Amino acid sequence: MTEDIDWAAIADVLESQAEAYAPAITQALAELGEPAPRTILDIGSGPGVVSGQLATAFPDAEVTAVDGTPELLERAENRAKRQGFPLRTTVAQFPDGLAELEPADLVWSGQVVHHVGDQQDALHRLAALINPGGALAIVEGGLPIRWLPRDFGIGAPGLPERMDVIRTERFNAMRAELPGSRAVLEDWPAMLRATGLIEARSKTFLIEHPAPLADGPRRTVRAILERERNGLDEDLTAEDRATLDRLLDPDEELGIDRRPDLFLLTAKTVHFARRP
Ligand SMILES: C[S@@+](CC[C@H](N)C(=O)[O-])C[C@H]1O[C@@H](n2cnc3c(N)ncnc32)[C@H](O)[C@@H]1O
Repeated sequence: MTEDIDWAAIADVLESQAEAYAPAITQALAELGEPAPRTILDIGSGPGVVSGQLATAFPDAEVTAVDGTPELLERAENRAKRQGFPLRTTVAQFPDGLAELEPADLVWSGQVVHHVGDQQDALHRLAALINPGGALAIVEGGLPIRWLPRDFGIGAPGLPERMDVIRTERFNAMRAELPGSRAVLEDWPAMLRATGLIEARSKTFLIEHPAPLADGPRRTVRAILERERNGLDEDLTAEDRATLDRLLDPDEELGIDRRPDLFLLTAKTVHFARRP
């Protein structure tokens, strides 16, 4: 693994988040058009939620989930058995491990390229995995998540925005510390064209679970906020830490488990391109 994130330890958050974001991915898959892929690589599949969506959207295709974390691939296999979709899995470390994979008609990679030091090089390697006429889709960027109205009755308004600032600093530090880290102008369609791919374009998909929130997305908001409460801890002010603690307290009337005004709102951007 090329960085310090313990991916297996956050399997629950990854799975819950991917389930909440699934409607946006379904819309993105509908953008892919003809011909339907016969072989698909889900690069950095994590627990396999999107792999399952790929298998459902393209029932004649052979889907392979590829990831550097064996525990997550095991989870993807269990999910596939439980939900009844066929799935192959391959353990590979990026970027070098990508060279070992068989090319496919569709290469999908969601929120993975930014974990590789040289993102342009990673795109070159992903582009090399596409069969002629095939497609690449990467998920990068979008909008940060929002979950309560501006003034939600605890602490100073603006907590999500203050968390964005800390998360952005952490993200910058994470990228700077990756092996072979290179700054690049993150114009994703231009970066895709630089690999020789054509028809590069971006489209953003809204994810909206309105209030009152159903149990599934409510658990997702809890998983995200618990992770951020712990992960951003030392950079949060004492007041913001206390606010998060109250929000996460199951016995708190204004906590996220009980509030009728909790929602989940965010957006994901998908960058598409095709190999001539
Ligand atoms: C943010 S998760 C995305 C999971 C999934 N694609 C999704 O969108 O829900 C990133 C995934 O990439 C994998 N990953 C990150 N860096 C990697 C590397 N250098 N080599 C192999 N896998 C890596 C992690 O194990 C994790 O499953």
